[in-house]
Amino acid sequence: MKLIRKIMSVAISAILLTGLASCSAGTRNETVASTLANASEHSASATNKETSEVSDTGKENPFGKALVVYFSCTGTTKDVALKIASEAKCSACEIEPVKPYTADDLNYNTKKSRAYKEQNDASARPEISGSVSDWDSYDTIFIGYPVWYSKAPRILCTFVENYDFSGKTVIPFCTSGSSGIGSSATELAELAKQGKWINGTRFAASVNSKDISEWLNALNGSI
Ligand SMILES: Cc1cc2nc3c(=O)[nH]c(=O)nc-3n(C[C@H](O)[C@H](O)[C@H](O)COP(=O)(O)O)c2cc1C
Repeated sequence: MKLIRKIMSVAISAILLTGLASCSAGTRNETVASTLANASEHSASATNKETSEVSDTGKENPFGKALVVYFSCTGTTKDVALKIASEAKCSACEIEPVKPYTADDLNYNTKKSRAYKEQNDASARPEISGSVSDWDSYDTIFIGYPVWYSKAPRILCTFVENYDFSGKTVIPFCTSGSSGIGSSATELAELAKQGKWINGTRFAASVNSKDISEWLNALNGSI
């Protein structure tokens, strides 16, 4: 009996470790991506403490302690988010829906799709799995999402209504097929009510690290 219990406990530990590793893949050593699940968030905030306040040039990081929070269904926003985290030397954290979006849910071409219905329902608030730990410790939040029918996906509304942005600088960014960021970020700012929201930026899927670095340098002047 004891042996069976021991084998079970080793197996469970192995499964947990695999899960943690799969949501902690960063693009550079100092960048940690995680989901909002509490367990993995700890590793993100621990790494962030060590890396985000002082850059590797030894200068103070203009963003203070920063976090990139993003929602992404097909990976484009995630790629951009991880590039931002890498260049800004901070952690990244994925907003994960309790109910993941299937390909049918994302079908742009039908009014029957979940995405279409949610975007056409101003009160839709898809549930988020997990939460950001150590939220109060962040000075700057980069917040990224794909444009859905010219707006931020409703799950971003859930997010901004659930966190207190007081005292934080918020830097929105989005990806899209071709649309600009339009009013999607200011709509989120209105829902959030607090925080100093900087004008948002739209990135193409092809954006590279040099472009991101130049964008961050330009932002320095405006925060
Ligand atoms: C439901 C849905 C609606 C979309 N609406 C727009 C849109 O209004 N304008 C646009 O340029 N792209 C639109 N797109 C394309 C996405 O914004 C684009 O592919 C984005 O980069 C995907 O990001 P992700 O891979 O991080 O999910 C839409 C995509 C989906 C699935």
